[in-house]
This record gives sequence, structure tokens and C-alpha cells, in this order.
Amino acid sequence: MGKVLIVYATRSEETKGIADLIAEGVRISGHEAELKRVNEIKNEEDLKGYDGYLFGSATYHGEMISSMKQLLFIAERAELKGKPGGAFGSYGWSGEAAGRIFDTMANIYGMDMVSDGPLMLKAGWVEGGIQAAQGYGKNLSAMM
Ligand SMILES: Cc1cc2nc3c(=O)[nH]c(=O)nc-3n(C[C@H](O)[C@H](O)[C@H](O)COP(=O)(O)O)c2cc1C
Repeated sequence: MGKVLIVYATRSEETKGIADLIAEGVRISGHEAELKRVNEIKNEEDLKGYDGYLFGSATYHGEMISSMKQLLFIAERAELKGKPGGAFGSYGWSGEAAGRIFDTMANIYGMDMVSDGPLMLKAGWVEGGIQAAQGYGKNLSAMM
């Protein structure tokens, strides 16, 4: 059984809702999922010991939440090369955050990224949201 770390940044909890559903998909696949708010990750040691990583942030003013930017600098030192990864986020209309996180995980850390690209959802409760988010967790799990 593998262990997946899901770290999320949210302001009004929609991205947390998506993270919860992704975690369900991981667990349905028979793996362990650990959920953490972005401010719980203090240094690169907090990121070590997992078999897969999912980072998520909502989009505000065309960007990810700033605490997720800090997390991405911490993750640079966590030796994530070759590990399965994915990115997600809630958005209103443009949704840049998930794509930016995804690109950093692929290009800077050299992670093995989910082939469907970043998961962008307005919320977990929108039509098809449960299936999409659980499916994202399942797809990451299939790579472990
Ligand atoms: C002040 C403000 C700015 C926002 N800017 C954007 C934006 O640039 N692009 C976008 O897609 N959504 C934007 N949104 C919408 C949020 O991304 C959306 O409400 C999302 O569900 C919030 O997720 P959260 O609950 O995880 O914080 C904005 C919302 C607010 C309140």
C-alpha cells in the first residue's frame, strides 16, 4: 500500500472539498491518503516519506494563494524527482493556479505527472465533480 500526501491552500474551503474527494479516490484504490493544509508544511522534511503528491490551490487575482507559492519553494528541496504527482484547484473563471502548480511539479521537480493534466473544478459539488475528483485520485494511485 502506498501513501499519498495531499496539500491544499484555500480561502473559502472549495479547494478543501475537492481535496477530500481526491483523497476518497486514493483510498478507494487501496492506498493511504494524508490531507494537510498548506501551513502545516514547515520544511522539506514534512514532505518526505510519501509515494505520491497532490498539491492544490484556489485561484485569486489570476494566481495561486501565496502560501502555496511558499510550499513550492519548500518542495524544491524535497527530492521529488520521478515521484507521481498531480495538481488541482477550485476556480471561478480563469483558474490559473492548478496549471501553474502542475507545471512547477513537472519542470522544476521532474515529477511523473498525471497524464490528464491539472484538475480544475469550480467545486467538488458541481455536476460531475465527485466523479472527476475521485477519478483524479484514482489516476494518481494507478501510477504508484
Ligand atoms: C477577490 C476574488 C478574486 C478572485 N479571482 C479569481 C481569478 O482571478 N480567477 C478565477 O478563476 N477565480 C477567481 N476567484 C474565484 C475563486 O477562485 C473561487 O471562488 C474559488 O471557488 C475559491 O476557492 P476556495 O474556496 O478554495 O478558496 C476570485 C474570488 C475572489 C473572492
